[in-house]
Amino acid sequence: MNHRVDAPEQAIDFNNENSNTSANPTFDAVLGARLSRRGLLRGSVGSVGTAVLAGFGVTACGGSDDPVVVEPPAAPKLLGFGAVPKSLADVVAVPAGYTASVLFALGDPIASGVAAYKNDGTDGDYDKRAGDHHDGMEWFGLGADGKRNDNATERGLLAINHEATTDEKLSSFFLHADGGTSTLPRPAAEVDKETAIHGIAVVEVAKSTGKWSYVPGSAQNFRLTALSAIEIAGPARGNAQLITKYSPTGTTTRGTLNNCGTGKTPWGTFLTGEENWFGYFTRGAADDAARGNDKSVTSLKRYGRNQGAASRHGWETGGADDKYQRWNNSKTGASANGSDDYRNEMNGMGYIVEIDAYDKTRTAKKRTGLGRFAHESAAFGKVEAGKPLSIYMGDDSRGEYIYKFVSTATWNPADANANDRLAIGDKYMDSGKLYAAKFNADGTGTWVELALSNTAISGYAAYKFADAADIAINTRIAADAVGATKMDRPEWNAVNPANGEIYFTLTNNSNRSVNPTGSQYLPDAANPRAYTDMKGTSAQNGNPNGHLVRMKEGAAVLAFTWDVYLFGAEAGADKAMVNISSLTADQDFSSPDGLVFSKATGICWIQTDDGAYTDVTNCMMLAAVPGSVGDGAKKTLSYTKADGSKMDIVTPVGKAATDSTLKRFLVGPKGSEITGLAETPDGKAIFVNIQHPGEGTAMANVSDATKYQSQWPANAGYGAGKRPRSATIVITKNDGGVIGS
Ligand code: FEO
Ligand code: CA
Ligand code: CA
Repeated sequence: MNHRVDAPEQAIDFNNENSNTSANPTFDAVLGARLSRRGLLRGSVGSVGTAVLAGFGVTACGGSDDPVVVEPPAAPKLLGFGAVPKSLADVVAVPAGYTASVLFALGDPIASGVAAYKNDGTDGDYDKRAGDHHDGMEWFGLGADGKRNDNATERGLLAINHEATTDEKLSSFFLHADGGTSTLPRPAAEVDKETAIHGIAVVEVAKSTGKWSYVPGSAQNFRLTALSAIEIAGPARGNAQLITKYSPTGTTTRGTLNNCGTGKTPWGTFLTGEENWFGYFTRGAADDAARGNDKSVTSLKRYGRNQGAASRHGWETGGADDKYQRWNNSKTGASANGSDDYRNEMNGMGYIVEIDAYDKTRTAKKRTGLGRFAHESAAFGKVEAGKPLSIYMGDDSRGEYIYKFVSTATWNPADANANDRLAIGDKYMDSGKLYAAKFNADGTGTWVELALSNTAISGYAAYKFADAADIAINTRIAADAVGATKMDRPEWNAVNPANGEIYFTLTNNSNRSVNPTGSQYLPDAANPRAYTDMKGTSAQNGNPNGHLVRMKEGAAVLAFTWDVYLFGAEAGADKAMVNISSLTADQDFSSPDGLVFSKATGICWIQTDDGAYTDVTNCMMLAAVPGSVGDGAKKTLSYTKADGSKMDIVTPVGKAATDSTLKRFLVGPKGSEITGLAETPDGKAIFVNIQHPGEGTAMANVSDATKYQSQWPANAGYGAGKRPRSATIVITKNDGGVIGS
């Protein structure tokens, strides 16, 4: 997320929403091999690597006869690089022997005829430029013919999320010469810039004479913005809750918003998760009564929009045009069904959106079957012929849930190379079952189906579910009904290609407390820490440094076992209650967020979006070579509550990391978070996003570069102007080796 740490209350509200007021037990049920050194490239190393890769459908390559490049079988030692020290410098630091280069920054043109970016607040045409706040990212290989080629290593498309923008008091201030208008109404010209820098970009990149660059004039480049037409697909398509003035049939909407984590389907399309979308909408002060206090009010509250809520940017004040009015999520019309206003507009956001990165003429589809919440990444489990597909997902807000979608259709490997990729998406993602996770204290867990056939849902008193569409739209409420486990803000998840285990980052949670009051709740086995970390003189309470859980499924579809893979912590913190994973100075981190397994090397890349340890270090990326669920031991956290009573929490913790299984690889510039990672199939180039460098800059200093928190990437020699810019970087190894070796 874009995450102004010492941010105004408003930004925190829009980004770190906290509307799970359900009484769900966090303690009920809840309370309750080191990675096989497999080959670096498919087919390159013996039976282990080949079997693993075949099992994951990685062999389903796009239509190319190009031979797979076969490397010598000797696998280089992973994590052979020297750890990058924690740093507060305004640079991207990578290990000795590696080079990080800026590739594609906010405002860079993606169509011929668009002027070079001046970066002084006077630029326009943002729908033909890189958007802001680069986030999740996926690679789509291109052959010499410019068509899909899953083996390509030197030419491809990067599909990039543009999550949000660096803002203060409504305005995305680096986009406007004087910082823009920080009061209502917002001028239309400012709103038009700001809607256009949201969404996603698809941009061609290529390596030529040893150097990577993006291709500004590629005919394959395109953007989707907060206003692009997108189709509603799956169970909620055509539902009454999606009827708007724009789409009286409830089958389309405009825009994708606050795009955070990503995924890539086995058939070669891009998945983007809509995260903190609710903050962009306003609601009238008396809207509850205007709606007759019907169940839409319950829904709006559960999704963070109480009546009277202000919007993050005030886009609804840009003018009378429909493209501004749609941000007003109030009942203003007289119709019974909402076809004359935008009372239902928010129901068009909050999905996993499928986009064909290879074909900009195709309309993207919101896959409502995967549920509606603050989506992060969408990772596929083991892909096996004749079996359903599983997609794992997290809902990033305090105390929200972990989900899994299982397709009705069983996998046909021929679908990997179909020409109509979105039709394959219809087949696997529009029909299936959605589950929420319950973590038991004994290290087991259960997936609970979210369906009307479950009496906990059909009989739920707080919200009367009508049908499957209602569950797809109001997924959080359905998960409340079944008693899913409240987690410490599930961010990205990723599936270990070596063994199919599912890893989730749980970034932090200020609502954990052993003496809970108000909206707080007790720690539990899967979220076992509640402590105080000092940031200077300021106390950070709850679970300020976050952790990673991982899950292992067996033959039973609805059961799993789990452990805590790693706890974020400062190296010097108490090893019994805080630095439980015994992280060293070369390993310590806080607030894990982005999470990607390399298919080339098996490395688990962990990226941070932190506000707790930033007095000591900028955000970072670590390389890990994890083992497997159950490779460690149970640990007991012993708490004494305010009333003097004792509370012991026993939790399974993964095997402690060593300097050959976890090491810091990158530290970013000031004010940035590190997020999104894509790689070439040979593992010799990785693409990483640096989001919101300089976000701690005060809007009043927009024209005084000496007062910017960061001047990156200008200070790295990239582009005009000194205003900080989110950007994609490419990292290569100077000796041409694989990244992370
Ligand atoms: Fe966009 Fe939850 O991070
Ligand atoms: Ca994130
Ligand atoms: Ca601290």
